[in-house]
Order: sequence, then C-alpha cells, then structure tokens
Amino acid sequence: MVVSSAPGKVYLFGEHAVVYGEPAVPCAIERRARVTVEERDDDRLRVHAEDLSLDGFTVEYSDEANATPDVDVSESLIQAGIGYIDAAVEQARDAADAPNAGFDITVESDIPLGAGLGSSAAVTVAGIDAGTRELGVELSAEEVAERAYQAELDVQDGEASRADTFCSATGGAVRVEGDDCRAIEAPDLPFVIGFDGSAGDTGELVAGVRSLREEYDFAAETVRNIGDIVRYGEQVLAEGDVEELGKLMNFNHGLLEALGVSSRSLDQMVWAARDAGALGAKLTGAGGGGCIVALDPTEATETGLKFTPGCEDAFRAELDTDGVRVEES
Ligand code: PMV
Repeated sequence: MVVSSAPGKVYLFGEHAVVYGEPAVPCAIERRARVTVEERDDDRLRVHAEDLSLDGFTVEYSDEANATPDVDVSESLIQAGIGYIDAAVEQARDAADAPNAGFDITVESDIPLGAGLGSSAAVTVAGIDAGTRELGVELSAEEVAERAYQAELDVQDGEASRADTFCSATGGAVRVEGDDCRAIEAPDLPFVIGFDGSAGDTGELVAGVRSLREEYDFAAETVRNIGDIVRYGEQVLAEGDVEELGKLMNFNHGLLEALGVSSRSLDQMVWAARDAGALGAKLTGAGGGGCIVALDPTEATETGLKFTPGCEDAFRAELDTDGVRVEES
C-alpha cells in the first residue's frame, strides 16, 4: 500500500492572460489531496472517495462504463470524480507497463472541488505517484507532472494548461508561460482564502474573455497589462517584498474585473479582505464564483471573511514548498 499526497494551488497572478501566451504565477498551498493505492490480485478498481464535496462514495468496477456507485449521489459528480482517478490509473499502468493492474483506491481531500484551487490536479498527481510506486516504479516530480497533464488532457477533451499539474507536482511558486514551467524563488506567503461555496464555468469565462479581446483593442491591452504585472511581480517575489506583491494582486484583480470574470460575491470577499487590512486580494482561477486569495500575516482577514455575506468558508493556507510526496508506504 502506498499513500501519496499533493497540494492545491492559487494563482498569485496571471490567470486568463496565460491563455494568450502571457506568463502566470501559480503557488502551491498547504491544502492537500491524499490518495491511498493498494494493488489487487484481479484487474478491478475499487474507488472510495471522501470529502470530495460528495459525502463519501464507493464504486467498484473493471471498466469505467460499468461503474455503479453504492450510494445515491449524482451520476455526473461520480463520473467527474472517477474520470480523473481513471486517467491517473491509466498513466500508472502505462508507466509500470502493467496494463491489467487492479487497485483499491481511497481519495481524501481538503481542497474544495471546482473552486479554482486545483483539486482535480492534486488528486491526479497524488494518484499517479501512489499508483506507480505501488507497482514498483518511482517517477520524478517532473515525470509525474507530465503524466498528470496528459491525464487532464484526456479528461478535459484537450483543454488543460500545465499550470495546475506542474504546480501540484513540484510545489512552491511556479512560472508558467506556454509549455515552459519552472520553479521560482518566493518568500513565505501568508495566504488567506475565501470561498463562496460556488464554482464558475471555466469554459464560458475563458470564451467571454476571448470575445472581449477580439472585439476591443483595450481589452487585448488589458490582457497584456496583466502580463506586465506578472513580469514585474516576478522581480518583486525574488526581492521578497510582500507589501508590493499585495498591491500588484489588487491591480491584477481590477483588470480581471474589467475583463468580466469577477462576481458580486468574489468582489465582496476581496473588499472584506482589504477592509480587514490584507496587503492585497484578488480572485483566483477562472472566476465567476469560487475563491479569492488575500495576503495577510495577521488573523484579521480570516476573521473578517468569516463575517462576510456570501463567504461560506475562510481559511489560512501558507505557500507549500513541498509538491507531491509519499505519506506512507
Ligand atoms: O479555475 P482554474 O484553477 O481551473 O484556473 C483557470 C485558469 C485560466 O487561466 C482561466 C484557464 C487556464 O486554462 O489557464
């Protein structure tokens, strides 16, 4: 039996603009998905998932088409969850050249689903790591990242950026520009996250920015300006100037707002964080709903967010310098 875990992530800067070739900086956070994998002596898969906003379910099958859950939860949620696990299993079988390996798999996650915190990437990364090790193969973090990216491409019909999977596999702060992903230096970042309990539709939000950008030169300029913030932000990260980073996060949020990807609840949480004295705050991920990220070394922002209408959950999550790791074997 092997247990591996992998972190979720926030975007310090650059979401949406990264789709048009600008750089972005995702950062791993100390919220993890843990995947336990035990090889079976047949070719079946038994998946038990907890805390995936699903109240726990178990499903046993030999191929995805015949997956039948033993609890009454929506078929689409099950298929969404199982899709990533299945793709991770395929990658592990391929890496170990064991096409018929069967597994008992347990997924536990403290990352809210579909909220811009990279929950599916974390499950995929941890699943590939645990699955390959259980079969006696040790991949580097970069190899796990590449296989997790391929798994996400399979599940998401060819629409996936490398940001989430690379960041989850390697940990720390990461710079992504097209296919080029690399670790960058960062100081301790006191992240506070606010979650409105909902999830935006990434495809729709990306399409909205695309049409604004095609229609208006100033919208295309706004996307380039986000890229400028990221380029300057990288220098500020290297200098460790957390106050200046906060100002840049505020600026980045304003530009995302102008591109139409914020929402009333995200704006309310961003302002609550600023009112509480956060150094800066912005939405993270695709937007439309989901999470904001603020920088605050004190307790004030977390407390302020907990009293903010529209904020369902607020928690602290420092930058996680660890990527995927083995918890038990
Ligand atoms: O919401 P997330 O964490 O899936 O992030 C989406 C980020 C976008 O830049 C909007 C899209 C992308 O694929 O990079």
